Amino acid sequence: MSNSHHPVRIELGGRRVNRIGYGAMQLAGPRVFGPPRDRQEAIAVLRAAVAEGVNHIDTADFYGPHVTNQIIREALHPYPDDLVIVTKVGAKRGTDGSWNTAQSPRDLTEAVHDNLRNLGVDVLEVVNLRAMFDRHAPAEGSLAEALTALAELKEQGLVRHIGLSNVTLNQVKEARGITPIVCVQNHYNLVHRADDALIDELARQDIPYVPYFPLGGFTPLQSATLSSVAARLGATPMQVALAWLLRRSPNILLIPGTSRVTHLRENLRAASLALPEDMAAELEGIAS
Ligand SMILES: NC(=O)c1ccc[n+]([C@@H]2O[C@H](COP(=O)([O-])OP(=O)(O)OC[C@H]3O[C@@H](n4cnc5c(N)ncnc54)[C@H](OP(=O)(O)O)[C@@H]3O)[C@@H](O)[C@H]2O)c1
Repeated sequence: MSNSHHPVRIELGGRRVNRIGYGAMQLAGPRVFGPPRDRQEAIAVLRAAVAEGVNHIDTADFYGPHVTNQIIREALHPYPDDLVIVTKVGAKRGTDGSWNTAQSPRDLTEAVHDNLRNLGVDVLEVVNLRAMFDRHAPAEGSLAEALTALAELKEQGLVRHIGLSNVTLNQVKEARGITPIVCVQNHYNLVHRADDALIDELARQDIPYVPYFPLGGFTPLQSATLSSVAARLGATPMQVALAWLLRRSPNILLIPGTSRVTHLRENLRAASLALPEDMAAELEGIAS
């Protein structure tokens, strides 16, 4: 059975990708800093993802930094033709692991080149500008200077498509006046529903919405209702959380993260988990 009435694949930057992809942030070390606990498992996760049909991988050169992209390259280069790798620019790590804003034209140029080098490609398929007015949530502020610089890198042929991350609807509107926007990646899941209106608006405009922390992020979702629904469906809570997102809106593309092959396979099986109407309604009650 397929998940609800929604399409299995949707367009991302002119390519059709499966609705469940893979987010690579968990492949770096603790706090997304330094090497992973098990590099061979990290490589195995990526190879298993592609073998299972994943054709959308989310990354950033500031994961590690550099580590996650280097592992992706080692595991998958030369890349399959249908694989869309989406990366992010706009932040830089301090030597202490801190996350710092890096949005000047020079910062963005450096970040694009870091991604090209560490991924081993001549052009980046999709680059999200990650807004940093508030590191943890979308906050108003103009992205015009940064986007103009990124659009110039696109003109130079180093970037094929531009997306946004951690942004408000106003910022999406401003951005679309500067350059086409192919996706928006913000914090969203069963519990964290601040973007409900934005998702619906982007669906009307045919722009993919990619929730980050789909499973709750560093502390995965826990809820008695979620566990109860999962038990009744013979599924796991994480699979139900993903199936709920797929059902939430047809423009949602998922990038659940994991450092384990077993979890990866479990998460991908959510694509075929049908969530009945009454259980979906029950899950609505979890939102804070
Ligand atoms: N734009 C942004 O600002 C931003 C911010 C954060 C993340 N992201 C992107 O979004 C992607 C997804 O976010 P995320 O990886 O941080 O969080 P997530 O997908 O919500 O959850 C990852 C966490 O869930 C655990 N997990 C995954 N599958 C599981 C399963 N089947 N059963 C039990 N636990 C499971 C993982 O641990 P194990 O490793 O043990 O499986 C990890 O702790 C990232 O990889 C990254 O690409 C973007």
